[in-house]
Amino acid sequence: MGRGRGIEGIGQVDDSALRLVLDPRDTRGWKNRYIDRLQKTVLSAELVLSRDARVLDLGCGAGRMSHWMAARGYRVVGADLDRNLLLRAAGNGQGRNAGFVQVDACVLPFRRGAFAAVLSVGMLGQFSEPGRLELVVLELARCLAPGAGVYLIEQVGRRGSGSGLPLGEYLDAFEKAGLECVTRFPVRRGRWAGLYLIRYGLLPPVAFPAVGRVERALLWCGLKGMPGYVDYFFRFEQRR
Ligand SMILES: C[S@@+](CC[C@H](N)C(=O)[O-])C[C@H]1O[C@@H](n2cnc3c(N)ncnc32)[C@H](O)[C@@H]1O
Repeated sequence: MGRGRGIEGIGQVDDSALRLVLDPRDTRGWKNRYIDRLQKTVLSAELVLSRDARVLDLGCGAGRMSHWMAARGYRVVGADLDRNLLLRAAGNGQGRNAGFVQVDACVLPFRRGAFAAVLSVGMLGQFSEPGRLELVVLELARCLAPGAGVYLIEQVGRRGSGSGLPLGEYLDAFEKAGLECVTRFPVRRGRWAGLYLIRYGLLPPVAFPAVGRVERALLWCGLKGMPGYVDYFFRFEQRR
């Protein structure tokens, strides 16, 4: 198991766990570490929660975000359908404050208003069957305490491409559940030259913070890159 250097605020990186939930073909591990770092950097800046807030990490996979949030002091429930990933998450005891439970996101076993926030990364974009996304979003909305928010990082892409859903489909599903999008912005492109240079070992981890800044700047300027999906960050709040 390859272990990357802990980056302050980003946490230890377990390359084999990242391959389970990001790019399984990234044998060097650098591309996955770059994505992991970029996503956590965005969440660090955007998560506005009291220190011991109860947070649901929905579709937690091997628990990379659950453990990272638990290390920040939140009380985290990681929930996922895949038992093997959950065992991996539970065995990866990087922090206290995180528990794991097997669920189907369509029928969550939590009481109404149980969480101060829901985080979900890379799960909702898989729900392309008619009505499925709406169902899951209604379920997660039910679990939000008054004033709670939803934090998402999801692939935005063409319908049927296998890489996420169109932007409007996410916004509509949350709108129907009474949640309003208060922040959204692109985080990274699924394909661009910098990512290939990282993937093939030409840009080492020490360069990731700088590459991330370049990518964010290019995205703000409307970087087109190669065709493919774009990872978006979203924050939703209950409509007043
Ligand atoms: C791409 S992985 C992302 C994992 C984690 N959020 C991360 O970013 O490291 C998507 C996760 O969604 C989970 N998932 C898919 N369908 C689900 C469902 N119906 N209920 C709960 N989890 C589901 C998968 O098992 C998988 O762990």
